[in-house]
Amino acid sequence: MTSAIQESLLVTGGAGFIGSNLVDVLLARGYRVVVLDDLSTGDASRVPRTARFVHGDIRDSNLDSLLTEERVAAIFHLAAQVDVRKSVADPIADASINVLGTLNVGVAAVKAGVRHVLFASSGGAIYGEPQGKWADEDHPLNPCSPYGVAKLAGEKYLEAIAMESSLKVTILRYANVYGPRQDGRGEAGVIGIFLNRLLSGQDAVIYGDGEQTRDFIHVADVVTANLLALEKGVIGTFNTGTGIETSIKELYALTAAACGVEKAPVFAPKKPGEQKRSVLDPAELRSVLGMTQFVGLADGLTATAEWFRQHLEFLAGKAAAAEVETGNGRSGNEENGGAAGSPSPQSRGVS
Ligand SMILES: NC(=O)c1ccc[n+]([C@@H]2O[C@H](COP(=O)([O-])OP(=O)(O)OC[C@H]3O[C@@H](n4cnc5c(N)ncnc54)[C@H](O)[C@@H]3O)[C@@H](O)[C@H]2O)c1
Repeated sequence: MTSAIQESLLVTGGAGFIGSNLVDVLLARGYRVVVLDDLSTGDASRVPRTARFVHGDIRDSNLDSLLTEERVAAIFHLAAQVDVRKSVADPIADASINVLGTLNVGVAAVKAGVRHVLFASSGGAIYGEPQGKWADEDHPLNPCSPYGVAKLAGEKYLEAIAMESSLKVTILRYANVYGPRQDGRGEAGVIGIFLNRLLSGQDAVIYGDGEQTRDFIHVADVVTANLLALEKGVIGTFNTGTGIETSIKELYALTAAACGVEKAPVFAPKKPGEQKRSVLDPAELRSVLGMTQFVGLADGLTATAEWFRQHLEFLAGKAAAAEVETGNGRSGNEENGGAAGSPSPQSRGVS
């Protein structure tokens, strides 16, 4: 008889939007799950009791002890500072989490004998304007924010660590992720902002002409890509997007329909420096990982609108509080696709 505990999977940032959706699916598939999150933007109430929750920082110098103690076989590394505007305002704080934190995860993984690290990178933030139809994984890398530079550095550090060890590394370059539990921050924050405004009877603002495009992927598809990469043991770099380019004007129309609202958007001047297009080639995701189906945007928005409807009172309260805090009633970020009009709803305390 052995007293050794079962191996586990660690999800850093598992109390956040994407991480908590991933944790739910891992638990449902019978994995033993440990969540490491400092709750800077995450919410512990999203982590089911069947997972172990560790309130801590990915930069902890004793991270390898936790990995050894929990017999961690693989790490989904999602913890990050995700706000592009914050990375511009304080690039050193961003790099501390997104570069040094990621490096610490890689170094601790090797020390503790973890076999596989799967890293949440960002296609939207590291390719820059696509040259041609879309960006495949070999597209030139032109990050245009400290957040994008830090994500790219995280990729490169993990690859360098993998070259010198037996650690397997999979880099998933996410497109603009939306779905239940999202808020107005992050790279698909525009959807959270539109939903929050439209469902509470307010105007939603589009900055610029609304012709700017993004590749919106439902969080369930991002979770599936992570699972496939783990279970197939695939290494390498994969765009995690749909390949479908949607303009912000189209997105607004779909979101308004999902909310049952017939209201035109309000247009405001374009934000300086905003990327015009962003769309990822999903060919590798399809052929190597075997992802053949994606949630359609209209269906995904309908389900997300329903989640927002159920949490509207809470979200509206948070939005009002944020409006007082910021004093300007605006949010949005360079990667949002030029839409804003409300303070970040910060959907915390709900699951
Ligand atoms: N949402 C998107 O559209 C998108 C697009 C591309 C990439 N990503 C990446 O996906 C990952 C998850 O993003 P999300 O949208 O769920 O954001 P999120 O803010 O909801 O999740 C991030 C989580 O990391 C935690 N965290 C932050 N700093 C930490 C630290 N130092 N130590 C421990 N925990 C820490 C936060 O508390 C939060 O729970 C991030 O790495 C992000 O860069 C997201």
